[in-house]
Amino acid sequence: MPPITCIEDLRRLYLKRVPRMFVDYCESGSWTEATLRRNLADFARIQLHQRVAMGIEGGSTATQMLGHEVAMPVALAPVGLLGMQHADGELLAARAALDFGVPFTLSTMSVGSLEDVAAFVQRPFWFQLYVMRDHAFIGRLIDRARDAGCSALVLTLDLQVMGQRHPDIRNGLSTPPKPTLRNLWNLAMHPRWCLGMARTRRRGFGNIAGHVKGVSDMSSLSAWTAEQFDRGLDWDDVEWIKERWGGKLVLKGILDPGDARRAVDYGADAIVVSNHGGRQLDGAPSSIGVLSEIVARVGGDCEVWLDSGVRSGQDVFKALALGARGVMIGRAYVYGLGALGEAGVTTALELIRRELDLTMALCGVRSIADIDQRVLHGQ
Ligand code: GLV
Repeated sequence: MPPITCIEDLRRLYLKRVPRMFVDYCESGSWTEATLRRNLADFARIQLHQRVAMGIEGGSTATQMLGHEVAMPVALAPVGLLGMQHADGELLAARAALDFGVPFTLSTMSVGSLEDVAAFVQRPFWFQLYVMRDHAFIGRLIDRARDAGCSALVLTLDLQVMGQRHPDIRNGLSTPPKPTLRNLWNLAMHPRWCLGMARTRRRGFGNIAGHVKGVSDMSSLSAWTAEQFDRGLDWDDVEWIKERWGGKLVLKGILDPGDARRAVDYGADAIVVSNHGGRQLDGAPSSIGVLSEIVARVGGDCEVWLDSGVRSGQDVFKALALGARGVMIGRAYVYGLGALGEAGVTTALELIRRELDLTMALCGVRSIADIDQRVLHGQ
């Protein structure tokens, strides 16, 4: 195997090793994918300010997120169906992240359950919450996250309705895949993946199966979302969820400075400036494009993080330069997971840390706290 030099190398391997349906789920954005592309293009446009002879010995990427030490300011974002990208994907990605020294966020729509991940990693991780109509179930889910030892609740606010991603409809996305001729043919082309799946019992929505009644198709993410997600979600819900949880609260999916202000007023410890990886409102601006404005509004009152479009340590650096205190990565680690399992997630994190470290050195900064607008060309 040729050496893996960047996230794109992991992606190339990922495309070969994971069945089509789950590659498409990861790769696609909503409708025309304009926002998905803009996320990447806007990062690429930002130019950096090289400095020399700055005495950069002893630099470090370590810092804090939510008051906890992290090896770099990068958390693994919640990703639905991770356990379909690789058998036991949630468990393996969680362990890779925690061993590396960065947070892992388990999605509500994960395959491995809260209890599975807690038993496997035996350390605190974060839990992402979607709010469904059945608030009693949500209350119990919050309690389960607390019992599992989760150290932060990441409440996603931008997916009460699901953006349409055309390939998921064409593929009939479900977990586990339905045994149609097309699916069976595609699965047969991915024997390594099939072998992993044959060895695990985790193939459904682990946080949900056995905990709720009255869902017409338990395996379909889109059917589940349409039937169960609570379109009525409002700031009063944020309030009761915060109260029921009682711990660190992160509000994810914010693109508007006024919404950011409200998030702070409702007690968010951190917000995530995010367009959900270009998967929700097609036509929305890139997260990096709106970051500065949001930092200017609330940056002194809570931690502002960013996701959507981060594929390298340079992107992390650029987000920090524009005022983010941390970032979340999604696809960048999913490529590693699908390509090489746990080791692939570690590789993705190592690549990003090395790129961040090198970029810091070439821009003449030694610590995360020193990264600000001055490292950008033309500022
Ligand atoms: C869910 O979070 C998705 O983007 O599919």
